[in-house]
Amino acid sequence: MKNIALLGATGSIGCSTLEVVRNNPDKLRVRALTAGKNWQRLAEQALEFRPDLVAIADKDAYGELKNALSGSSVRVEAGDEAVLAAVEMQPLDAVVAAIVGSAGLRPVMAAIGKGLQICLANKETLVVGGSLVMQAVRRAGLDLLPVDSEHSAIFQCLQNCPADSVHKIIITASGGPFRSFSREQLADVTPEQALKHPNWDMGGKITIDSATLMNKGLEVIEAHWLFDKAYEDIEVVVHPQSIIHSLVEFSDGSVIAQLGWPDMKLPIQYALSWPQRWSPPLPPLDLVKIGSITFESPDPQKFACLAYAYEAGRAGGIMPCVLNAANEISVAAFLNRQIGFLEIPAIIRKTLDSFKNQEVTTVDQLLEVDAQAREIAAALITEGKH
Ligand SMILES: NC(=O)c1ccc[n+]([C@@H]2O[C@H](COP(=O)([O-])OP(=O)(O)OC[C@H]3O[C@@H](n4cnc5c(N)ncnc54)[C@H](OP(=O)(O)O)[C@@H]3O)[C@@H](O)[C@H]2O)c1
Repeated sequence: MKNIALLGATGSIGCSTLEVVRNNPDKLRVRALTAGKNWQRLAEQALEFRPDLVAIADKDAYGELKNALSGSSVRVEAGDEAVLAAVEMQPLDAVVAAIVGSAGLRPVMAAIGKGLQICLANKETLVVGGSLVMQAVRRAGLDLLPVDSEHSAIFQCLQNCPADSVHKIIITASGGPFRSFSREQLADVTPEQALKHPNWDMGGKITIDSATLMNKGLEVIEAHWLFDKAYEDIEVVVHPQSIIHSLVEFSDGSVIAQLGWPDMKLPIQYALSWPQRWSPPLPPLDLVKIGSITFESPDPQKFACLAYAYEAGRAGGIMPCVLNAANEISVAAFLNRQIGFLEIPAIIRKTLDSFKNQEVTTVDQLLEVDAQAREIAAALITEGKH
């Protein structure tokens, strides 16, 4: 029985993780659940899964959550520190990190500090703090298991392969809903259009990131840290059917790919079952039904976010943190209809240009840079200077 804490339980990955738990009651036991502000869903989940602790980041939601769980034995806490307390439960073997954005960095570092196995969905944590996270993971000798479908695919392709036999990583991208749009058409797209992903059902922020291709950019940086590959050895290929989740090219020219339906339950389950494989959470892949799969190059002119992510990743230091913060603020502003779709890369560009790079030494330094970059991006939006 593996005891888990699920951070970001109320989100898309959180709910899919609980489905995996529901299907494997003899293998997984939930000890703690956390959320941002959705106390109603968190209370429902707590009544079903009976964790020892639920923690909600929004302190204003404490009263209602506590009321909803009165009479149960579940301990209720609120605030950012309470989310951190979730990784201190006993007994605990693994943490599923499914908070969205840089808000996930401190909880992941706390989980590493506790020596727990980390099942990582929260890619922004590696984008923002990759060097510190990987140093801490190596120092503690822990397993950092990718949940992101592309990185799970690469991880699966790499099982039992010598590290020096890997020539190149090829990350697939669906291309998002606007793959075939012209730049003129992109200027007018609405949040509703951008939120309709052709293949995946995901949270709002990552769905917009998929439409701008920033999601792929964040994944390139994530792959750099997870698999210790240089940026020139990480390639992005658009594959609109999202059946091949990613590939690895080896030194002898062989290419190994992982295939599956576009559904997060399989990569989540693999992170939890690794190195074992459990019963399938989905119907078998039907190649004849899929019929054909295609590939094309991403268009950097139309989707500048991907190029900015490569640039920030190569620069290293604080630049990926700045990129991520500016992106989080711009995506929220687009969803609130404060800016247009093409202004997302414009604000990111200006925010990146307003920073001088620094070496990263501490998490506190990163959180300060994150806050400064958010302020700069927000000011650009308010002043309309983009
Ligand atoms: N969805 C996917 O298919 C997918 C695939 C690969 C990777 N990922 C990655 O997985 C992560 C989660 O994605 P998602 O799509 O599941 O996002 P989501 O649906 O927006 O869920 C985010 C979760 O984080 C919680 N949260 C938000 N802000 C928080 C804060 N400040 N403190 C504590 N908790 C907070 C939310 O709580 P409330 O709901 O209560 O506000 C929710 O539980 C992201 O990093 C994403 O890039 C997602």
